[in-house]
Amino acid sequence: MYETLEEINEEVKKCTKCKLCKNRTQTVFGTGNPSARVMLIGEGPGLDEDIQGEPFVGKSGKLMNEAFRGLGINREDLYIANIVKCRPPNNRNPEKEEAIACMDYLRNQVILVKPEIIVLLGSVALKSILGDEYGITKSRGKWIIKKDIKYLPTFHPAALLRDEHKKIDFWNDLKLVVDELNK
Ligand code: URA
Ligand code: SF4
Repeated sequence: MYETLEEINEEVKKCTKCKLCKNRTQTVFGTGNPSARVMLIGEGPGLDEDIQGEPFVGKSGKLMNEAFRGLGINREDLYIANIVKCRPPNNRNPEKEEAIACMDYLRNQVILVKPEIIVLLGSVALKSILGDEYGITKSRGKWIIKKDIKYLPTFHPAALLRDEHKKIDFWNDLKLVVDELNK
């Protein structure tokens, strides 16, 4: 068992449990408030994240930050992490076995942060955490409660960059989170 997030990060930094270790510039562990009420889980680092070592610092991250800011929530209030901590080549989806290899770190991040709410950003996060029987189109915007944690699946912010129409659903989903926090 880990006592602190920093302890997990030290393991992650030297991790070679899957082949994604080969091409990384650096690992991308997670960032934000270590006792956040809301945790966001994405897929894995992209180019910008691999260079900077922080999740969601590229284009899709900026879009997500703006949406939260519009709802009165700062990025620093949240805890942000990914399914895999090393960048998949050419931004491909993480493979099942890579997600499984990396899951113990995320599980321990959740145990230490103890969020009330986990926002699952996109299909990879949804299926890796809640199971392959879930699909993002059907599940987005609906609360799923498991072991005292409220999960809210929504679109990955990169999907909004490809399809503007998804922005309104994304906004409404984030609004559900804010309303839940203010309950
Ligand atoms: N996309 C993700 O899923 N995670 C990041 O950290 C950046 C982009
Ligand atoms: Fe280890 Fe996760 Fe990186 Fe794979 S993606 S090498 S399991 S830290």
